[in-house]
Amino acid sequence: MAKTVTVGVFDSGLGGLTVLKECVRVVPRARYLYLGDNANAPYGSKPEEEIFALTLAAVNKLRRRGADVIVLACNTATAVCLDRLRAQFRFPVLGSEPAVLPAARAAKDVLVLATPCTAKSPRLAALIARCPGCRFTVFPAEGLAGAVERWLLGGVPLRLGDHLPAGKFDGVVLGCTHFVFLRKEIAEYYRAPVFDGGEGVANRLKTVLFDRSRKIEGIGSHECLELDNRRIPPNSFQKTTKNAIIFLGSSKNANKCVYKQMFDNIFPYNSTKKCKKT
Ligand code: DGL
Repeated sequence: MAKTVTVGVFDSGLGGLTVLKECVRVVPRARYLYLGDNANAPYGSKPEEEIFALTLAAVNKLRRRGADVIVLACNTATAVCLDRLRAQFRFPVLGSEPAVLPAARAAKDVLVLATPCTAKSPRLAALIARCPGCRFTVFPAEGLAGAVERWLLGGVPLRLGDHLPAGKFDGVVLGCTHFVFLRKEIAEYYRAPVFDGGEGVANRLKTVLFDRSRKIEGIGSHECLELDNRRIPPNSFQKTTKNAIIFLGSSKNANKCVYKQMFDNIFPYNSTKKCKKT
């Protein structure tokens, strides 16, 4: 019998919902588990060993709940943990990285906003080194991910000017998945195009699932053989989001509430309904 592939998506909190939305759009036939560790968010200034321990626990939890593939929907966890997780496990682990390459194709003077851990990571330095024709300013926006959590879950007002550096740039990379909730506002703040990695992660997921469906025994005939977009009915996003995303962890209700309000077109955004961090 066909098996629907299960994708485990992890972030320190709400940010990964922006990646989940892209994955659901690009790969609507999968089943999704979302685990946000909001109780411990933000991760971005924590010691690396602590981030690794928290991420490893989350990956193990998603595996126990049946995830075939893990998506680290968190630039910080990717920068700190991806290589170690891939060395440790045989199942596919996908990461999220700042969209430096797409930005460098479109702009010459680029601001990269990231958490402190991502900002100082060798992974980011390696990406930037691949774009010698572009000038990059990397800014560790230390408090911004936490402010996004408080804004979306507690209604605490967020002032961009408290978090962003001054300057003129012709492109801005959102190198933290939490910042994607502020995509429009940040684009207006700098009057520049913004770039994030969500769609790239989703496309990578599609490729990995397609390859797995051909190569890996036991997942042989699962539904993702039908990943070809032409065979996915246009309304499958609505159908899938209603039934096929399971939110896990102590903040599952909060993450589900924000996802539904922000992204689920069955329940359009309703700013009067508050999501609570429970
Ligand atoms: N959303 C995460 C990222 O992409 C982490 C933010 C945080 O917890 O500091 O980096």
